[in-house]
Amino acid sequence: MRASWVSKTVLLIIAKYVVIIFSTIIAYHILFAPFHTFTPFSTPTKHVFNRSIDIRWPKHLKSLLIFPASLKLVFIDDPFLTCVVDADQAKKAHACQKLASAETTRIGTYLSIPAFKKVFNSKVLNNTTTNDTWTLEPQTYADALVLKYHYHENFDKYVIINSLEKKNGTNYHLLRGARDLKTIGIRHFTNDKFSLTSTVGVKKCESECYAFLPKELHRHMAYLKAVEMLYCDQNLAKINVLPNATWNIPKKALTVLDDLIDEYIDSNQIPFMCHGTMLGWYRDCGIIPHTTDMDYCIKAEEYVEDFHTKFINHKTHPPMRIIGKAEYGFELTYWLYHDEKGYGPAWVDFFYMYKENATHSWTPLLMDFSRGVRVKDYVALVDKLCTGDIYGHLYFIPCEPLAYLDTRYGETWNKSNPDAGYFEKGVQYAKNGNWNMKQGEYYKSF
Ligand SMILES: *[C@@H]1O[C@H](CO)[C@@H](O)[C@H](O)[C@H]1NC(C)=O
Ligand SMILES: *[C@@H]1O[C@H](CO)[C@@H](O)[C@H](O)[C@H]1NC(C)=O
Ligand SMILES: *[C@@H]1O[C@H](CO)[C@@H](O)[C@H](O)[C@H]1NC(C)=O
Ligand SMILES: *[C@@H]1O[C@H](CO)[C@@H](O)[C@H](O)[C@H]1NC(C)=O
Ligand SMILES: *[C@@H]1O[C@H](CO)[C@@H](O)[C@H](O)[C@H]1NC(C)=O
Ligand SMILES: *[C@@H]1O[C@H](CO)[C@@H](O)[C@H](O)[C@H]1NC(C)=O
Ligand SMILES: *[C@@H]1O[C@H](CO)[C@@H](O)[C@H](O)[C@H]1NC(C)=O
Ligand SMILES: *[C@@H]1O[C@H](CO)[C@@H](O)[C@H](O)[C@H]1NC(C)=O
Repeated sequence: MRASWVSKTVLLIIAKYVVIIFSTIIAYHILFAPFHTFTPFSTPTKHVFNRSIDIRWPKHLKSLLIFPASLKLVFIDDPFLTCVVDADQAKKAHACQKLASAETTRIGTYLSIPAFKKVFNSKVLNNTTTNDTWTLEPQTYADALVLKYHYHENFDKYVIINSLEKKNGTNYHLLRGARDLKTIGIRHFTNDKFSLTSTVGVKKCESECYAFLPKELHRHMAYLKAVEMLYCDQNLAKINVLPNATWNIPKKALTVLDDLIDEYIDSNQIPFMCHGTMLGWYRDCGIIPHTTDMDYCIKAEEYVEDFHTKFINHKTHPPMRIIGKAEYGFELTYWLYHDEKGYGPAWVDFFYMYKENATHSWTPLLMDFSRGVRVKDYVALVDKLCTGDIYGHLYFIPCEPLAYLDTRYGETWNKSNPDAGYFEKGVQYAKNGNWNMKQGEYYKSF
């Protein structure tokens, strides 16, 4: 009796320590799991699949995922991508769980919607092995479909199918929203393949058992963070852009700009339209005809020191000059050598955007180069980023464009004024000291 009691106690103590040791290991992994580190000067690394946890697909997704090749399925949205490729096990587990818990999820297909429907009807819809049922929701867009899965336990899940068949003359895909998911724009779609065999069961899947996913995942994920796609004001554009308008900046300059912006995204600096470029996007639905440069902003906390130096000898977008300091008022200008006949090179200003207070941000302006006189240009606080289109090119943009424009340009911005100088009436700005140092220390041209 006594001996057995002792051994039970010993076993309990051992069990207790095993639990403590294991929970310490788990806690250590949760607390000290490395953040995604990024080396700004290397080219983006290809993601490495980590299948060390089993993915248990919810039934509604599994009934599609056993036909990945026939349905030409593409993982495009965050929980799918994080669930299948993230190396951080805790993040991965959360994302996989989100796929089960979310009422609405989103999958892409390389088929057109009519072609998808055909395969879906023949392979998935009439599969009578369960008492669950799929139905198609009324279709709102030609390039999207919403499927409803009714679990026989009496609850519903929805899957938005976004066709990635065509880009419709743009450099991005529109992923239409429905229910709680918004319409977003996504670039960078060269694909990779992800084998689903081990996750849906070896014998269950059709013979070619892989789904597609974006190859340039880092850039892709940056666009996925944008809240939604915003649109310009077509009526204002009709009033403001005259039929005989001619532009100082050719559309071709945007192709060079896209390349530069991609490099910035790789370094985790997200350039978004601001100032005149944002005004042109909203009011003129394009570039302002009389403008001579493009304006993009980057949140100052994303600043990467000396990032521009890697472009000093770049063929199409070398830096022209830098002004300011990382701590205060850094801005830089790049040439955009676009080769369009009849035009000189264009240029783009990248302003780093600093926070002023709870309602305002500011970007720097050097008012007097020789004396180093500084100005703060105020704008409404920029927090979340959305996306918008300029001539078929996708760009980030503050999610509150009207508040931004009212603060930046006063209430007269809705009327184009080719004679406007920089400090047009209504522009909110303040002189804020000067660089008390040699010009070469706050200003450098290349
Ligand atoms: C029907 O669905 C079940 C479970 O989802 C699957 O195992 C089976 O292969 C499907 N049958 C056909 C003919 O597609
Ligand atoms: C995959 O996950 C395991 C377990 O957390 C980890 O040890 C391994 O380093 C991960 N592999 C990659 C490539 O991240
Ligand atoms: C699927 O079932 C519906 C009705 O249950 C039927 O009208 C349709 O023809 C079937 N489709 C196929 C491809 O078998
Ligand atoms: C479907 O429902 C019917 C009637 O309730 C039942 O007899 C059958 O076993 C169910 N089938 C499955 C696969 O659950
Ligand atoms: C493609 O663009 C045209 C013209 O801009 C538009 O009318 C059409 O609705 C677009 N189609 C899709 C699927 O977005
Ligand atoms: C364009 O047309 C407007 C009137 O519609 C006129 O005032 C303006 O001078 C014209 N501009 C050019 C460059 O021809
Ligand atoms: C925030 O800064 C702006 C610009 O300087 C100013 O107009 C506004 O009153 C400030 N708001 C607060 C709450 O301090
Ligand atoms: C432009 O803005 C002003 C002031 O808010 C407003 O009175 C006017 O109607 C607007 N014009 C157009 C064309 O929207």
